[in-house]
Amino acid sequence: MRIVDLIVKKRDKQELTTEEINAFVEAYTIGEVPDYQASAWAMAVLLNGMTSRETTDLTLAMANSGDTLDLSGVVEIAVDKHSTGGVGDKTTLAVEPIVASTGLPVGKMSGRGLGFSGGTLDKMESIPGYRTDLTEEEFLAQLKEVGVVLTGQTGELAPADGKLYGLRDVTGTVPSMPLIASSIMSKKIAAGAQRIVLDVKVGVGAFMETQEEARELAEIMVEIGRLAGRQAVALISDMNQPLGIAVGNALEVVEAIETLQGGGPYDFREHSLEVATHLLVLGGKAENEEAARQMAEETISSGAAWEKFRQLVEVQGGDVSYIDDPSKLPKAKLIETVKAERGGYLAEINAREVGETAVTLGAGRQKKGDPVNHAVGIMIHRNVGDQLAAGDDLFEIHAGDEKTLQEAKQRVMAAHVWSDEAVEPLPLFYGVVK
Ligand code: URA
Repeated sequence: MRIVDLIVKKRDKQELTTEEINAFVEAYTIGEVPDYQASAWAMAVLLNGMTSRETTDLTLAMANSGDTLDLSGVVEIAVDKHSTGGVGDKTTLAVEPIVASTGLPVGKMSGRGLGFSGGTLDKMESIPGYRTDLTEEEFLAQLKEVGVVLTGQTGELAPADGKLYGLRDVTGTVPSMPLIASSIMSKKIAAGAQRIVLDVKVGVGAFMETQEEARELAEIMVEIGRLAGRQAVALISDMNQPLGIAVGNALEVVEAIETLQGGGPYDFREHSLEVATHLLVLGGKAENEEAARQMAEETISSGAAWEKFRQLVEVQGGDVSYIDDPSKLPKAKLIETVKAERGGYLAEINAREVGETAVTLGAGRQKKGDPVNHAVGIMIHRNVGDQLAAGDDLFEIHAGDEKTLQEAKQRVMAAHVWSDEAVEPLPLFYGVVK
């Protein structure tokens, strides 16, 4: 079987067989398919799609491309969460400690930034010393002993996704339903998650821009979970405007810390509590959503969630003095607050523009393997629906140099759309797929 034939087949809108998908994934995993062929194949999939049978086959092939973890001897019920990616989405940083502090263990393997969306590992690496490269043995031992793990996908787990994820980031092949569904679910299946909450983002700052697409992605992932013997729930959440205030690695860590300590912006806190609620119900920790929500809130008010986060950072080698005193975290050379040039209501704060600007500031990667700048980013002080007067603080740019600062200012200013009429705030969620 020649790889070029599989590219041509997909280019010509034909369906790949299970054997062809398995062969492609196997060959790619062992390095027999060069990146240029894998990129061409991914682009053909992005443009022409896949049937649900092909998507399921691709997921299982990627899940089986390396080791698979069996967590049954380590925890009673293995829960996990995963977001499809958004701007300002630091949900994992708050949700993991909230849930783990109730006694329900959470071991999570996260990713790096992808396109305009930020990555949990890049955020956590703002904390000096924090290790995101735990081995499988370390992952299992920490899950058992500490009940919370937040690390990168090991090279041995779903290596096909590991390679393809990095390639998609820099070849314009991220926003494809089958590629996203298989990427996420292959990792979850390989990492041994039994109950999974999927946070499917929808809007201009998400890879799925319409509610129909987001629902379809949610349904296909829940169905793949079912076929693989896992129970999944998908929340469809808004990503038209950035989540919370902070966009950028260290800035987002600070916001997560504030939220775990009982502060933080309303939308981010609500979002995190809702995701935690579903995890607690799915993990059998609470009987219903009401009880779970109360439990989640209590972990914040009692300080238990914050303590769990501290413990997580410490056990993974991070210097806790940086989270105890977040002013020690990386800080950008230039910080400028930009004020509203007019009064009125905010009708739009384009999350994609904000996310892409954060990448150009250096918070994400332009090419595979680029280093990220942990200090830079954007603080979006307002929400859609807010009424402002001219001169009110609008946003803040944290930049490494004057040129990127000026470019970012213009771009983020243009991402704010005004109205003279009152504008409804955006909802946080659009639905749940079970
Ligand atoms: N998150 C992933 O893990 N993979 C994707 O393709 C998109 C978001």
